[in-house]
Amino acid sequence: MLQRSAKPRTSSSIGVDPAFRRDVLNGLGARPLTIPPRWFYDRTGSELFEAITALPEYYVTRTERSVLAEAAGEIAELTGPARVVVEFGSGSSAKTPALLSAVDPALYVPIDISADFLWESATRLSQLFPDLPIHPLEGDFTGTLRLPVAAESRPRLGFFPGSTIGNFLVPDAVDLLRAMSVTLGSGSMLLIGIDRIKDADDLESAYNDSRGVTAAFNLNLLHRINRELRGSVPVNAFRHVARWNDREARIEMHLEAVRDLRFDVDGQWFSMKRGETIHTENSLKYGARDALVLLRAGGWNPIRDWSDKKGLFSLILAETGRHRR
Ligand code: AVJ
Repeated sequence: MLQRSAKPRTSSSIGVDPAFRRDVLNGLGARPLTIPPRWFYDRTGSELFEAITALPEYYVTRTERSVLAEAAGEIAELTGPARVVVEFGSGSSAKTPALLSAVDPALYVPIDISADFLWESATRLSQLFPDLPIHPLEGDFTGTLRLPVAAESRPRLGFFPGSTIGNFLVPDAVDLLRAMSVTLGSGSMLLIGIDRIKDADDLESAYNDSRGVTAAFNLNLLHRINRELRGSVPVNAFRHVARWNDREARIEMHLEAVRDLRFDVDGQWFSMKRGETIHTENSLKYGARDALVLLRAGGWNPIRDWSDKKGLFSLILAETGRHRR
């Protein structure tokens, strides 16, 4: 049962997001140049990300999916039935059916900033689960959100898969986890996927695949700037770079200028020297214990965690509210 009244506005009906404009103009004017990764996900970007999840080098999605399938029975036992499942950054909701069929929820609330993708995914899910009420919420999950009234009467289970938490620096990740516990309320639980520290070569090839899909995903940000902000960014004068920063335990993605450049965006002029980069993404990785520390710092007590045999990826179930010794 899809709540039609909740149909979000499509991006075309609201024009350019003022927050996108602000982040791009500020980010290109600052040194080092930085644009936050949330702006990757226009329609093309969301489709390219879907293609990334199927790449042989990108172990993340495949591994999380198999860990979730293994753990589903135990997760259902630990959460109990009839919770409200709230998914943060639901995107295509690709992993959601596995969770929904295991925990048998009373309501599903997918949250995403990409409005039309959110609506499409919700429609597809409602066909798979015709009896499940679905209430999509268009919004930015980095702040606290007001859940639909229908979510108030039952305990909540937050779902934050894919290691999206890795896009946030540690202090921001802690703030985000705390915002989620405010949104979900006392007595709630959180199921979160967190990618692990591993061999640097394996990490770098996961973010620099041989087919160039990740490069296209990164470069699409420049096309989006040109499209939506009337930019003159010479996209083919940029090169995709992905490197492991061991000290910070993160993969960094950059767009590197291959020559000195000058371009304008929304009437403002910018220049870059050859070799300078726009830092477009951090993807932080955590050791098995680091991940538990992060959750505790964010106000969540880990109950149980699961991983694959190689320890590539962790899935952690945590609860809020109670503080144990
Ligand atoms: C969606 C943030 C989890 O960091 O692995 C994939 C995004 N960037 N390839 C990640 C991404 C390049 C992805 N997250």
